[in-house]
Amino acid sequence: MTADEANHRIEELSRQIERHDRLYYLEAMPEISDKAYDALHRELVDLEKAFPQFLSPHSPTQRVGGAPLAGFETVTHLERMMSLDNTYSEEELTTFYNRLLKNLDRDRLPVVIEPKIDGVAVSVVYRNGVLERAATRGDGRQGDDITQNLRTIESLPLRLPHDAPANFEVRGEVYMPRDGFAKMNAERERDGEPLFANPRNATAGTLKQLDPKVVAKRPLEVIFYGFGWLGNDVVLESQSAFYHLLDQAGLRKGDLIWKAETLTDVLAAIRELDEKRHGLPYETDGAVIKVDDRHLQQTLGATSKAPRWAIAFKYQAEQAVTRVLSIEVQVGRTGALTPVANLEPVFVSGSTVSRATLHNEEEVKRKDVRVGDVVIIEKAGEIIPAVVEVKVDQRQGNEVAFEMPNTCPACNTPVVRDPEQVAVRCPNEHCAEKVKRRLRHFAARGAMDIQGLGTALVDQLVDGGLAEQVSDLYALDPMKLGRLERMGSRSIKNLLDGIEASKKQAAWRLLFGLGIMHVGSTSSQSLLDHFGSIDAVAAASLEELEAVPDVGEVVAKSLHDFFRSDAHRDDLEKLREAGLPFGQAPASPQSDTGADAGSDRFAGTTWVLTGTLSQARDHFAEIIKQHGGKVTGSVSSKTSFLLAGEKAGSKLTKAEKLGVPVLSEEDFLAKLKD
Ligand code: IVH
Repeated sequence: MTADEANHRIEELSRQIERHDRLYYLEAMPEISDKAYDALHRELVDLEKAFPQFLSPHSPTQRVGGAPLAGFETVTHLERMMSLDNTYSEEELTTFYNRLLKNLDRDRLPVVIEPKIDGVAVSVVYRNGVLERAATRGDGRQGDDITQNLRTIESLPLRLPHDAPANFEVRGEVYMPRDGFAKMNAERERDGEPLFANPRNATAGTLKQLDPKVVAKRPLEVIFYGFGWLGNDVVLESQSAFYHLLDQAGLRKGDLIWKAETLTDVLAAIRELDEKRHGLPYETDGAVIKVDDRHLQQTLGATSKAPRWAIAFKYQAEQAVTRVLSIEVQVGRTGALTPVANLEPVFVSGSTVSRATLHNEEEVKRKDVRVGDVVIIEKAGEIIPAVVEVKVDQRQGNEVAFEMPNTCPACNTPVVRDPEQVAVRCPNEHCAEKVKRRLRHFAARGAMDIQGLGTALVDQLVDGGLAEQVSDLYALDPMKLGRLERMGSRSIKNLLDGIEASKKQAAWRLLFGLGIMHVGSTSSQSLLDHFGSIDAVAAASLEELEAVPDVGEVVAKSLHDFFRSDAHRDDLEKLREAGLPFGQAPASPQSDTGADAGSDRFAGTTWVLTGTLSQARDHFAEIIKQHGGKVTGSVSSKTSFLLAGEKAGSKLTKAEKLGVPVLSEEDFLAKLKD
């Protein structure tokens, strides 16, 4: 292919991919299969590699580029970003609408009504048809340049279609969809990381990340609702015309937009939205009502902080008033102490609530929640109820301020304060509460998946002094088990069978099951793919650990510390003696595959293994290596094959996107015998 041809093809592929992105993300009407899409993507990646002179920063392959920033640059908005005035009742909204009618001397006034998205406001500037800059609202005049982070949002075009205007600024809200938020927090909980209080906090926290690679992993979305600066090629007569501009440009607008010309219709729209809002993928605490006509908007003007032509209508939050009976402190697996309020039971949005999280010490201080306080609690979607506000005016004087204990509530050991994180931790490795949570984690489905070992039994084992370290599970005495409540011979057999079966799990599950702070299942898999055995992980230096995909500085340090502690070394030795999988592949992996050992049939190929296979991944890795192949931890355009077992996740998605051939275990064995 000549350079000219390559240049032409790169442009053609980019345009095609941009178009398919619009069809997929905006219109939910893909025209081609994922496979065909991935083939286009793959072809583009390969061509850009072969002809780097034609690699454009706006190429669809360049979403997650650039090194972590040292800090965000401050940028000045092209036009001020205003905020909105609020109304809290239909009466207040009626007053607002009637005042507009009067001021404009009309008896009908076309307005649009949209959900008010609870996220983080952004401004995005396109110039010459390409994404030039994205910034936070900041103080309305100046904000942070978060272009690198916004580029990772796949539905956001880096370049606009030919027939769209090319120079304008749009404003919108970045948010984290409820399901993505719930999944992310569940993962953080599993990995012993601090939880985000709600999707808005998670969005704000994510946008503050200086490393776009971290942002790319978080499920952010953006919806646009307004405009700022407009170039000469854009004429907008109304907010409705703005929606048309969004459509033309392939930018996402809200899913629900009403038009109304009378107060009755406005009220009908906000009531309808109230019914529908819980089904939306983002949190909405209100509606925004905007005068449609731009000339009328200009006539009405703005106050120093908000336009007079728009208003937010806030729904009654699903709140209830109750009393704090006590504040207890829970101890997590990694020792993190979390204050939780026990409440006088109260009915709120469909269920009775008797506990609410207070997140951490700082939150309790900020809200000044005291035992005995009358508080407003709120339940938003699937999020754990939270105390939003204290009714300070209802204090009697006998409320008791909360003090984070200086010793662990479970074991009395003096706590330590994490300087970087807000967390306060119990450092005692023998703390009964930590031990219980550690054992629960070890036995959990995503880790060693020990059948028959649930929460209640773990508690019994720990309280009965039968288990403290995970290795104790492999040395349980059936006689002693028989002395535990509700443990008949059948339950004992089930438990011991479950424990025995867990010895056949893959080594990464063991590594993950050890519950090392910040080490999740994905990083555990990457670590074993990379090092081949838990012993090699344990021996690795900080630099060697950081070189592994999915392992950053924090994870590396945590691993390094863990394997250098005597207590853990003892536990690990016992696990090894008990026959747990440390990563050594079975003695003769080729014997049951039918292929002869040591061929070069896989020479020059690079493999990635993912998902649950019938045997440890190391077993398959060993076979590949014996046949001349290479095994790496992450999928890239250099990957020749992905061997995917059940429940394959992001690696499979990535392989499909890049057009990497995906083999099942069956395909793999067939290939080996070819
Ligand atoms: S219009 C000049 N529309 O709410 C008026 N804002 O409380 C600009 N917001 O800063 C705002 N959804 O971050 C508008 N559909 C929507 C919105 C919306 C969320 C946010 C926006 C604004 C804040 C004001």
